[in-house]
Amino acid sequence: MNETISEEEFKKLIELLCQKSRIAVLTGAGISAESGIPTFRGEDGLWKTYRAEDLATASAFSRDPKLVWEWYNWRRGIIAPVNPNPGHKVLARWEKIFPDFSLITQNIDGLHHKAGSEKIIELHGNIWKVRCSKEGTITDNHDFPLKELPPHCPSCGALLRPHVVWFGESLDHEILQKAYLLSSTCQIMFVIGTSAVVQPAASLPLMAAEAGAKIVEINPDPTPLTPYSDFSFRGKAGEILPSMDKFIDRNLS
Ligand code: APR
Repeated sequence: MNETISEEEFKKLIELLCQKSRIAVLTGAGISAESGIPTFRGEDGLWKTYRAEDLATASAFSRDPKLVWEWYNWRRGIIAPVNPNPGHKVLARWEKIFPDFSLITQNIDGLHHKAGSEKIIELHGNIWKVRCSKEGTITDNHDFPLKELPPHCPSCGALLRPHVVWFGESLDHEILQKAYLLSSTCQIMFVIGTSAVVQPAASLPLMAAEAGAKIVEINPDPTPLTPYSDFSFRGKAGEILPSMDKFIDRNLS
């Protein structure tokens, strides 16, 4: 299975999962890496090439909305043609087989939706949604390429902005409260494909651990969360989740 986890430990985890536990999952950019979407801080990560302060802040948007939209249009171009990978698909299946299952994601790519997950908490928004900078109205927009750069609100003519959370901005209060509640009441929390450095998302697993939950990390590299994890699988989500799922299938049938 995985050199860092013994067979016995793994069996314990599968039993725990199959005991109708309250399961929460937190995902980051790493779960979409095998679909061909670059992560942020990995080797070819976006923040290695682009300056977040020029593209993913409110001041960057007020300074140069066209530049910011050109970047989000480019990112839409990367995301639009790709498909969910086996990692996304296993989580969509778990939502259906586990009675108490919640998925919290930092990703704005919409691939969990595309994989069939329905109950998703999108902490950082969604790249396929836009928001009127004047009225605050949020609408779906799957245009690629965008028809107008920057796009404007069809009802009031004001600038539209991507419905995503930028650096220096707060997360939606209701969404965050829901994530806090799920984290502090779950019995198992999977933490998949995140470097666990961006707040407040990186605190969710610590809240879960403090409330007595088992933490299961899946990441090719260790993270600041590894010391707090009960199980830490070194490997790719798109490989580890399907093999874990096979064991679950055997145990549930
Ligand atoms: N499977 C699992 N994990 C992977 C894989 C994979 N195939 N490939 C890479 N990873 C891991 C990396 O080792 C790294 O720890 O995924 C993590 C990705 O980390 P980041 O690039 O920092 O992405 P994330 O943690 O999601 O970033 C958090 O920061 O830039 C902001 O708003 C943005 O939501 C984002 C937030």
